[in-house]
Amino acid sequence: MSTSTLLGKTYFVRTFGCQMNMHDAERVSGLLDSCGCLPATDLESADIAVFMTCCVREKADTRLYGQCSSLKSAPVPPCGRRVVAVGGCIAQRDGAGLLTNLDNVNVVFGTHSIAHVAELIADAFETEDPQVRCEEIEDSAATDMPWHRETAYHAWVPIMTGCNNFCSYCIVPYVRGREKSRPFEEIVDEITGLSRQGVREITLLGQNVNSYGRDLFGRPRFAELLRAAGETGIERIRFTSSHPKDLLPETIDAMAEVPAVMPNLHLAVQSGSSRILKAMNRKYTREDYLSLVEAVRARIPGIALSTDIIVGFPGETEEDFRETLSLAEQVGYAQAFTFIYSRRAGTPAAEIVDDTPHEVIQDRFDRLVAVIQDTAYAFNQHDLGATVPVLMEGASKHDPRVLQGKSPKNQTVHAPVPAGRAASDYAGAIVDVKVDTARTWYLSGGIVGEPR
Ligand code: SAM
Ligand code: SF4
Ligand code: F3S
Repeated sequence: MSTSTLLGKTYFVRTFGCQMNMHDAERVSGLLDSCGCLPATDLESADIAVFMTCCVREKADTRLYGQCSSLKSAPVPPCGRRVVAVGGCIAQRDGAGLLTNLDNVNVVFGTHSIAHVAELIADAFETEDPQVRCEEIEDSAATDMPWHRETAYHAWVPIMTGCNNFCSYCIVPYVRGREKSRPFEEIVDEITGLSRQGVREITLLGQNVNSYGRDLFGRPRFAELLRAAGETGIERIRFTSSHPKDLLPETIDAMAEVPAVMPNLHLAVQSGSSRILKAMNRKYTREDYLSLVEAVRARIPGIALSTDIIVGFPGETEEDFRETLSLAEQVGYAQAFTFIYSRRAGTPAAEIVDDTPHEVIQDRFDRLVAVIQDTAYAFNQHDLGATVPVLMEGASKHDPRVLQGKSPKNQTVHAPVPAGRAASDYAGAIVDVKVDTARTWYLSGGIVGEPR
């Protein structure tokens, strides 16, 4: 069916979950733009409401049901009919099953079917029958689709899709499929093009970027990719996520030697107890992780380390948890994403019986958050008095007279908009900020010199 029926219709994409979904949402928006659709200001007024869903934890699952159902009572949009499309990881997991519980959904498209979203939505406008497409197609990386970037100065660059690791708690390999790397030259060409278009910072994306290329070349080539990206003219390179078991010395060398690679590393630890790490199928021990941190710090002094930690994995004892606390203190994380374990049906950990009361786990979680606040605060104190180059995003959400941006170490930095200037003059510019205040989650100070 032709997508001409979409011309002039408005759309809004609500995204849950990780950067993979954010980038997939940009592709959905890009495809709808290319069919002549226009962005709406909110979900309720849009002719096409798209949800990009996440099922990594139960909370993300339930949010879709609330938000999608509440659209039933929203006024009919301008075109006379609303089409609701659900994509992302819940769509991939549940397929047509989603329609049983969400009777206002017209389109379900899986993580491998993004390329078909415009046709599916166009078909849904022509018929009352729900459109469902979740099967795996060969070209799941689908890199030649148009995409609509949220900002002009930053771009997500997926280098691979899927995950082969099967951590025992995690649903991702089941909903994103196996690792599939994009061709090396294609990625480098894309980064070169982005740099020419004025993009200043890229984030290379994959569930485990350190194994990039293993399926193409028989061995990981992430270090080479970092070096090639560093030659493209792009000013700032970040990447996520890094699995500790695959972080090679050659990658640490590339990080240290390529000036555009920013001095921050997200290295998910998940637990500080070797016993729990084994049960999680992470394939490294506490000692392996700490040696890796030492190796990284030796090559890149002052690097900001961030992590993901799960509290309350089935069978975790107070002793195991204390090992997590002590590891967090020892590493001195600049930032950490902390999660309470969420049982995901179909994963091996879901079979482990554990009767630890929720209050005990909540108490551990609160103690961990307190430790991370301390380490983050201590980390930021090192930059007091320093002048840091900040890639400005624009005005802070809380105060239009204050600029907000990111330092090389990925710290949030605030600075007042200089007199006589507008916040918008600085969006996408790199400016030096002399830091006079260092708090737990941000630095602030005054702008020195001109934006560049
Ligand atoms: N591939 C990335 C890695 O291994 O670093 C992470 C991907 S996952 C989208 C992000 C984080 O969600 C994981 O690092 C883990 O901490 C958390 N997570 C995954 N499954 C979870 C579960 N069942 N319960 C709680 N947190 C979970
Ligand atoms: Fe999930 Fe582990 Fe893969 Fe990360 S590496 S996506 S935590 S299975
Ligand atoms: Fe969620 Fe899927 Fe990402 S489950 S965390 S959106 S890969």
